[in-house]
Amino acid sequence: MQKTILHTLRIPIIQAPMAGGVSTPRLAATVSNAGGLGFLAGGYKTAEEMRKEIIAVREMTSAPFGVNVFVPGAQSSDEKALSSYQKELRKEAERLGVPLGDCQWDDDDWEAKLVVLYNEKIPVVSFTFGCPSADIIARLKANGSFVIVTVTSTEEAIIAAQAGAEALCVQGEEAGAHRAVFRNAKDADQHIGLFTLLQQIRTIVDLPLIGAGGIMTGRDLAAVLAAGACAAQLGTAFLRCSESGAHPVHKAALVDPQFSETVVTRAFTGRPARGLVNRFLAKYDAMAPAAYPQVHHMTKSLRKAAAEQNDPHTMALWAGRGYRLAKEMPAAELLSLLMEEAREAVREAMGRVDKL
Ligand SMILES: Cc1cc2nc3c(=O)[nH]c(=O)nc-3n(C[C@H](O)[C@H](O)[C@H](O)COP(=O)(O)O)c2cc1C
Repeated sequence: MQKTILHTLRIPIIQAPMAGGVSTPRLAATVSNAGGLGFLAGGYKTAEEMRKEIIAVREMTSAPFGVNVFVPGAQSSDEKALSSYQKELRKEAERLGVPLGDCQWDDDDWEAKLVVLYNEKIPVVSFTFGCPSADIIARLKANGSFVIVTVTSTEEAIIAAQAGAEALCVQGEEAGAHRAVFRNAKDADQHIGLFTLLQQIRTIVDLPLIGAGGIMTGRDLAAVLAAGACAAQLGTAFLRCSESGAHPVHKAALVDPQFSETVVTRAFTGRPARGLVNRFLAKYDAMAPAAYPQVHHMTKSLRKAAAEQNDPHTMALWAGRGYRLAKEMPAAELLSLLMEEAREAVREAMGRVDKL
């Protein structure tokens, strides 16, 4: 396998792109400056907002960084289920004193974002929720970008490899927030754990793999590298960092004993995503239709009002399975700690292997 930009990172840690204001330019630049790979999240922003964040990162670092974009899906949905969900959510909107958002489909400014990616010549570009066409990937590569596609199954890994992806971000079921799933019957996610999925994909695709999902400690990092990944992508572990833009109510919920479980739900956005179980999730999980991004747009005003009103029970508290291990510290310190723990874990494991 050829050496890639991922193999040249001083620290084999990728800070996950986290849409919704979490992965700020400061967080991405801090991680890249420290020797990892920082990422901006292009999702939910306009192309122009995404461009401004790219400029902001470039003002803070000359090291490589990444930009992540959502691939738009099909425009189909069950209108009847959507309108009955809308009716239910109106009660929440009344309670919070805000209008319910419009139930619209959009492509998240896809074409305009591609133009920004081409013009700005981004070192690393990653995609989630789908696999772009071979033409788009070829154009980005010819433009000097290293292209990653996020996958959740062997089927998706094959599609991404055939389209020309240069690396795969392998997202295990442990992962926080949205599942990247794009090719499973009726959007029924297979929920495969990271270590199983890495082994399954390694045997069929000869591409560098990035492991994502539930990686919180240096021991996890060492394990994922030993499992064949060339780097680990961590989201939840960065949520409580000083540079993270996660809402303070979200940060607090991660250590609040009243939130003791995560599940994958469509309740907030119409797309499967892992979050802490709160009142809203428990109440609407079974009711929410598979309609992304319509449900996302519908609940946006509710989630925003809830955050302003300090109400964690109506917010989307995205979190991976390992959320309890998220530490409150500057991102550069977290990277050093993870590396120190990983080295110690490897030393210990080598001691055991030598005895075999
Ligand atoms: C708050 C949050 C927002 C996320 N937003 C995105 C995103 O915009 N794009 C993306 O590819 N992945 C996104 N992810 C998923 C991460 O890329 C990654 O798969 C996940 O964080 C790994 O699991 P972990 O959270 O247990 O580390 C997000 C994760 C979190 C926690």
